[in-house]
Amino acid sequence: MQSNEEVSLDKTAALQICESMGEITSDSLIPILQQIQDAYGYLPEEILFEVSKQTGLNANQMYGVATFYEQFHLEPRGRHTIKCCRGTACHVRGGREIISALERALDVEEGQTTDDMRFTFETVACLGTCFLAPVIMINNDYYGNVKAGKIKSILDRYE
Ligand code: FES
Repeated sequence: MQSNEEVSLDKTAALQICESMGEITSDSLIPILQQIQDAYGYLPEEILFEVSKQTGLNANQMYGVATFYEQFHLEPRGRHTIKCCRGTACHVRGGREIISALERALDVEEGQTTDDMRFTFETVACLGTCFLAPVIMINNDYYGNVKAGKIKSILDRYE
């Protein structure tokens, strides 16, 4: 969803996190990013700049760490995360069809979030449950032997 109006985020949580960190060293970087993400659901750019201003941590370095680690997200996330396996075991058992069915049902492509912020859709190399191929995971729920025709009823379980 795009908006022409710039909406400023409430920086209170970020300021509290910076204060609670005590002395800032380079080791503080990852814990701060984790706490900021817990508070905001992702790492908003304007908040990272505020953290940099408050702590003296380098904004470019923060951005570099945030893009390096998969656990960090620079864009807002959906309420639910769907991970669809694109690994070999799933691929040979129709995984590509499941990915396409999810893209159609959600009207997004891999890596995107639905306009209503309900789902973020990702693909992963293996979910570690190849015996259930093809597999998808929604939040912490695994769905194995998934059929494209069942996608809608699975998604309906998540508000
Ligand atoms: S290849 Fe899909 S779960 Fe391992």
